[in-house]
Amino acid sequence: MAMVTSTEMFRRAYEGGYAIGAFNVNNMEIIQGITEAAGELNAPLILQVSSGARKYAKHVYLMKLIEAAIADTGLPIVVHLDHGADFEICKSCIDGGFTSVMIDGSHLSFEENKAVTKRVVEYAHDKGVVVEGELGRLAGVEDEINVSAENSAYTDPNQVEDFVKSTGVDSLAIAIGTSHGAYKFKPGTKPQLRFDILKEVASRLPGFPIVLHGASSVIPKYVQMVNANGGQMPDAIGVPEDMLREASTLAVCKINIDSDLRLAMTGTIREYFNQHPDHFDPRQYLTPARANIKDLVKHKITNVLGCAGKA
Ligand code: G3H
Ligand code: 13P
Ligand code: ZN
Repeated sequence: MAMVTSTEMFRRAYEGGYAIGAFNVNNMEIIQGITEAAGELNAPLILQVSSGARKYAKHVYLMKLIEAAIADTGLPIVVHLDHGADFEICKSCIDGGFTSVMIDGSHLSFEENKAVTKRVVEYAHDKGVVVEGELGRLAGVEDEINVSAENSAYTDPNQVEDFVKSTGVDSLAIAIGTSHGAYKFKPGTKPQLRFDILKEVASRLPGFPIVLHGASSVIPKYVQMVNANGGQMPDAIGVPEDMLREASTLAVCKINIDSDLRLAMTGTIREYFNQHPDHFDPRQYLTPARANIKDLVKHKITNVLGCAGKA
């Protein structure tokens, strides 16, 4: 098997009413936990790399680890740049073997977003690489960019046809109320997503794959694990799983998950040290952390994404 683009995966996901998990990766244990889960469930998979992950682990290490995971599991895997900030980082990832890139022009004006997205699409398509664009702005933190709730904005369905037609993008991330990080909704309020916007976008772009960022559910079990073992996370609230399942049956073909992986890993390691304060072999605490990442990803594939057996 090999690194593949998401074209065929998204076509089948759209028709089949399920979504593909796009999981953020930063090191070997995270890659192993995710790919072992997807391999055992024969699920299609996107591994995504942020610019922060590239800085932390280096492009070449992540590529080689993903190649190893493909050899180990036999799964076809999409390797995707998450939140490419400009043409240069997209070009560098395309030249470095990624099969998919996101150009995130959501902080730019509509015309500037279209222009940079079109430039990336032209370069990428020439090399057989697919491109995700974004319209609308999510709240939350990603890399060094922190978008406050006041500066976030829902996607305007009136803009999507023009954006997709004039840029040639292969998929589109939209803002319908999800946000990055662990604190997505105000404590005490009921999480709401703008399904009306999603449906309106879908009706204007029939058959076109939509992407949801900021889609961790912030699973209470792992927040509790963090806080029961010395952590001090305030009320953390994520996107309810039933809403993600519903979105997967609509036009959403790619669901981005990072915070849930971070919480599972950190909660497990905190618990390990609480129980074994004298241990210092990294393999001892990374083994249960990797196992819990695998459990978490199996849960997402089976109960949230609906993509088990679809690889
Ligand atoms: O959307 C952002 C992802 O969670 C990646 O986070 O930029 O801190 O690696 P990062
Ligand atoms: P979460 O912070 O909800 O995991 O979102 C991750 C994401 O959107 C990566 O692009
Ligand atoms: Zn994101």
